Amino acid sequence: MSDRNPTRLTIRRPDDWHLHLRDGAMLEAVLPHTAAHFGRAIVMPNLVPPVVTAAQAAAYRDRIQAALPEGARFTPLMTLYLTEETDPADVARAHAAGIATAVKLYPAGATTNSASGVRDFDKVRAVLETMAEIGLPLCVHGEVTDPAIDIFDREAVFIDRVLHPIRKKVPDLKVVMEHVTTQDAVDYVRDHHKNLAATITTHHLIINRNHILAGGIRPHFYCLPVAKRETHRVALVEAAVSGDKRFFLGTDSAPHTDANKLLPCGCAGIFSAPNTMSCLAEVFEATGRLDKLEAFASLNGPRFYGLPASDETITLVKGAPVAYPAQIETGVGPVTVFEPGFPLHWRVEA
Ligand code: NCD
Ligand code: ZN
Repeated sequence: MSDRNPTRLTIRRPDDWHLHLRDGAMLEAVLPHTAAHFGRAIVMPNLVPPVVTAAQAAAYRDRIQAALPEGARFTPLMTLYLTEETDPADVARAHAAGIATAVKLYPAGATTNSASGVRDFDKVRAVLETMAEIGLPLCVHGEVTDPAIDIFDREAVFIDRVLHPIRKKVPDLKVVMEHVTTQDAVDYVRDHHKNLAATITTHHLIINRNHILAGGIRPHFYCLPVAKRETHRVALVEAAVSGDKRFFLGTDSAPHTDANKLLPCGCAGIFSAPNTMSCLAEVFEATGRLDKLEAFASLNGPRFYGLPASDETITLVKGAPVAYPAQIETGVGPVTVFEPGFPLHWRVEA
């Protein structure tokens, strides 16, 4: 970029490589916020019950398409929820029919609606081998669920205990380590080039664990994997703004109603779809790397998935702080929007 202090930035239309859209009234309320800025999104399958089969993914895709606002040009990229009963042939059919873009691995019990996830990784070996053969990526929620492991260490331990062994057993499998939150994960991805990439969320570039816990508990900053200490946040920012092709945006925008967040045992998830691009522009500008936002949000993801980058563009414009709602209304109650804690000067031009 030649202009040192740009006030306009045009980039290819971004994609979101990890998104929760939910279903029903929640889907209707949150989908327009993503469709306004993003061309495609990898849609998480952790509904209740989960999206396990090709038929369920096709039906969910149809419900998303039916909920799109008039004129929206947004393509949901569907995922299958991997269980110990998943049939490799069904996965292959879903891929061949263009229904599934990835398969999602949740270790059982790791996060919201993950009870049907995997306990014994040998039971899914045949599916993973089929995926490696057909080039279908595995998206991984990278946290161990062993209660003996401290929650702040669960990602780092997952790399050693689960991720590395899977990648050694099935080396041709393409793996996306999702929503990485640690220096350990960044280093692992940097050091292991073959068939490996990572997504980074907007909020993990902005908050550390103090935001959740210091000076009062803030449920709206609670998500999984939980934000780690500041050194890890800094490592994530460095990876995101580096332009390194293995790191790309997956917002993990995960709406829960305030009623479900503000409980003695509240849900994990941060809803960032409405202001994600404004937040990212602010983060990239602060590091002097606004010129790398396009790689992170629009180019590296499709490249890893073997898809073309968007042929559309969006323009971000810098000006007076952007007004965005503190909450959005949904048919099931209000959902709080991620509040980064600083003014957002970049808005996506309509
Ligand atoms: C996600 C959700 O609410 O579905 N929550 C979260 O904290 N990120 C599940 C997930 O992706 O872990
Ligand atoms: Zn998620």
